[in-house]
Amino acid sequence: MLRHFIDTQDFTRQELLNIIELTRRIKAADKQGCTPKLLQDASLAMIFEEPSTRTRVSFEVAMTELGGHALYLKPGEIHLGVRESLYDTAKVLSHMCDVIEARTLKHATITELAKHADVPVINGLTDYNHPTQVVCDVTTMMEHMPAGKELEDLNVTFIGDATNVLSSLILICTRMGMHFTHAAPKKYQAPAEWQAWAQKNCQESGGRLTVTEDPLAAVREADFIYTDLWWWVGQEDQIPERRAAFMPAYQVNKTLFEKAPSHCKFMHCLPASRGVEATDEVMDHPRSIIFDQSENRLHTEKGLLVYLVYPRLKRPAEELKAFHQGQIEAMLNNLKFGI
Ligand code: CP
Repeated sequence: MLRHFIDTQDFTRQELLNIIELTRRIKAADKQGCTPKLLQDASLAMIFEEPSTRTRVSFEVAMTELGGHALYLKPGEIHLGVRESLYDTAKVLSHMCDVIEARTLKHATITELAKHADVPVINGLTDYNHPTQVVCDVTTMMEHMPAGKELEDLNVTFIGDATNVLSSLILICTRMGMHFTHAAPKKYQAPAEWQAWAQKNCQESGGRLTVTEDPLAAVREADFIYTDLWWWVGQEDQIPERRAAFMPAYQVNKTLFEKAPSHCKFMHCLPASRGVEATDEVMDHPRSIIFDQSENRLHTEKGLLVYLVYPRLKRPAEELKAFHQGQIEAMLNNLKFGI
C-alpha cells in the first residue's frame, strides 16, 4: 500500500509508535555495527528548495547505511513546477526511484507531489510543518523519559514563535496523550486552527493543551523545554519587532531553565541562533539533549524509510535473478563486441 509521510495527523497514535519502535530497533542494531541492509539497491530522490544540514545529511546517510542510494537534488537543480509540471516531476521520479523526500517552500508543493507520485513522498519541512523532526523528538523524549513516567505523563513546554516545527510538535504531542504547553506573546502563539486540531487530539488521547503568555508558569512542571528560531529566512525585516516581543521573557536562559524541575531537559531542533532564543549556558548544559536529538534524525529517517519503502520492494527468488543474468550474459557473449 502506498503511504506518504506529509503530516503526523495522517497516522494513528499506534502507527507513530510503530515507527518509533522500528527506529529504536534499527538504532540498537546500528550501535552494534549491524545496520540491516533492508533497502538494498533502493533509490531516494531528495529535493531541497531550501538549505539543510540535518535533514539532508540524515536522509543520505540513512539510505546508504540501509544499503540504498540517495540523490541530492539541490535548490534549482531540477525542474520543479518551472518548465515542467509537478505532475510530470512526480511521475518521472516515481518511475526511477523508490521514494521521494522533499523540502519545499510551500506546503502545497509537497501535497501536489504526493498526489501524483506512485512512490512514498516524505515531507522534509515546508512553510507549514516538519513531521520527520517531531517523530525524532518524541523518540528522543522516550529515551530521556524521567524515572517513573509514561509517555502520557510527560509535560512538554515549547517557548517561542509558532514555527513549522511547533505546528508538528503540538499535534504529535497531543496525539500521543502528552501535556503540551506553548508560551509566547499573543501575536506569536499557535493559530486557532492548530489549537483546535490539538484539542481534538486531546479529546481522543487524554492529553492536555495550554497556550499562555506566561513563560514562568509554562516551565514550572516541564519535563522538556523546547525552543526554535524567532525568525527565519524571509523575515529579516521583522527582526527588531520579533526581538522586542520575545526578549527577555521568552529567552531560554539559565534563570528560566532553573525555574523548571531539576530533571527537566532542554531541546532545540537546530539550527539555533545562540544567544537569541537560548543562551550557550542552556544549549551546552548537562541537561541539554540537543545533539542526541539531532543524531536521532538519522535513526528516525531509517525507521521512516524502512516503514514506508521496505514493504514495497521486490524480493525476487535467486533462481529468477540467475535466469535473467544468464540471458543477458549469453547475449553479451554472442556479441563478442566486434572482436
Ligand atoms: N532541524 C532541521 O530540519 O535542520 P536542517 O534545516 O539543518 O535540516
